[in-house]
Amino acid sequence: MVSDPVQGREACAKEWWRDAVVYNIYPRSWRDANGDGHGDLPGIIERLDHLEWLGVDAVWLNPIMPSPNRDWGYDIADYTAVHPDFGTMADLDELVEAAGRRGIRLVLDLVPSHTSDEHPWFRAARSDRRSPYREYYVWRPPGIGGAPPNNWISYFGESAWTLDEQSEEYYLHSFLPEQPKLNWWSARVAEEFERVLRFWFDRGVGGMRIDALQTLVHNPELTANPPASERDTSLERRLGQRFLHSGGQPETHHFVRDWRRTADAYEPTRLLFGETWVSSVDDLSPYYGDGHDALGLAWNLPFLSSDFAAISLRAVVERTMSVLPSAAWPAWAMSTHDGEGRAATRWCQGDPAATRCALLLLLTLRGTPILYYGDEIGMTDATSQPASVRRDTAETAAPRDRSRAPMRWEPGPAAGFTSSARPWLPAPAAGVPTVAEQRADRDSVLWFCRDLIMLRRRHPELMAGAMRFVPAPEGVLAWERGDSGRGGVVVAVNLGDAPAAVGLGPLTKGQILLGTDRRRDGQTLLGDTSLDPREGLLIRTV
Ligand code: GLC
Repeated sequence: MVSDPVQGREACAKEWWRDAVVYNIYPRSWRDANGDGHGDLPGIIERLDHLEWLGVDAVWLNPIMPSPNRDWGYDIADYTAVHPDFGTMADLDELVEAAGRRGIRLVLDLVPSHTSDEHPWFRAARSDRRSPYREYYVWRPPGIGGAPPNNWISYFGESAWTLDEQSEEYYLHSFLPEQPKLNWWSARVAEEFERVLRFWFDRGVGGMRIDALQTLVHNPELTANPPASERDTSLERRLGQRFLHSGGQPETHHFVRDWRRTADAYEPTRLLFGETWVSSVDDLSPYYGDGHDALGLAWNLPFLSSDFAAISLRAVVERTMSVLPSAAWPAWAMSTHDGEGRAATRWCQGDPAATRCALLLLLTLRGTPILYYGDEIGMTDATSQPASVRRDTAETAAPRDRSRAPMRWEPGPAAGFTSSARPWLPAPAAGVPTVAEQRADRDSVLWFCRDLIMLRRRHPELMAGAMRFVPAPEGVLAWERGDSGRGGVVVAVNLGDAPAAVGLGPLTKGQILLGTDRRRDGQTLLGDTSLDPREGLLIRTV
């Protein structure tokens, strides 16, 4: 077992992610070092300076394991290897070490709910009904008239069953037919993943983002899913079905607790960050167990899907704080490689002032912020390409290529992402100013983001302090961080369309630590202050 690759830093707490800023890299689109048009691990090593300068503590990479890429890495054909497009295992080891020297931990993406149909387990399983790998997947004979075994549909809208002509049985898949679902009712599957986790943790990987956890365990009785109702995710409502029995079974938590025991056997403990795709934050609680014995972080889809309005954001953040076990630690993300896309587009319509407000929110709520690459420069979604040239062919509400476009590094061809004339996805010809341009401009979104991360480090109450919403006029969201009565930090953002007065209370004096309008940095405040629409302040109160 290798020791903690992050050197020179006191492990702040056993659960290091509670103080961390996590940065999510879609590796195919971040930086291409060998000029083949695909981002790679050496490209990440090359640009670690950017991450260190920005002040992030961990990097989560979307899947880097070998895959035929029907779902761009989320269909894995080998769980303990590196896809040649991204480099070699030696590159991975070098990345763990080089990032560790900069105080940055590496988190990989693990897909335990399904494999690729090209995984040797599935090939063996489908080639012979008596194969020992048959039980790794979910097989059922055709129903009456050759019909699929039940009404379950996949997240991409088709039947969740595909008939395997060779063995004349249907197999289950929660996503594409090329992503056969693993059968977690088989003890052998759990054993395989125990080995996979140890393989990566032994290499010094700091944790795993666990894909599509809500699909891990299906109901073995194959009970029919009910129709969707108003309380379900927009996807379930769109597809007309609630994924009640095709996933989300209580046994899921048993496996998560086992993984946590494995993660806790390492020093420091490894992060388990679950993709928990649920419609209500109430459904997140069980994934956290008692707050220390299950997931370390859980994906908060209701926050990501909220309107960018004070009333909606307050409701989802307050609900998250009230329903999670008191020892649990929330995770906040506003952009994703999936259909919801980037906050700079969805929440902010490309307005840099609004983007600063979004960053201020993300980085000062109580919990771990997850930046998606490009959030730090206010990168917007790319324009959608016609379906005929899209790389992602899955049927999703919005094309997922939009938020997977190459990172904008510097002016010039492919925005400095690659030297190839053919990047795997087109680099938008124009868009938000690049990293290089923003580094040269002290008033940029990038500097705002970086200054904010540095302030988090200087003011521990922004990381670990308690959080309370404080009264604010319509359209304004305001909250306090720190222990009551001892002075702390107040954050206020005006997401409304009219200027608003924010009161600090007659006895309170404040100093602006950071304003989305940088001319206000350092100002002293006595009593009320006014916020323009799309303006936010981080205020130290005394
Ligand atoms: C997750 C991933 C998504 C993928 C799906 C199936 O939701 O974020 O990109 O298509 O799982 O693995």
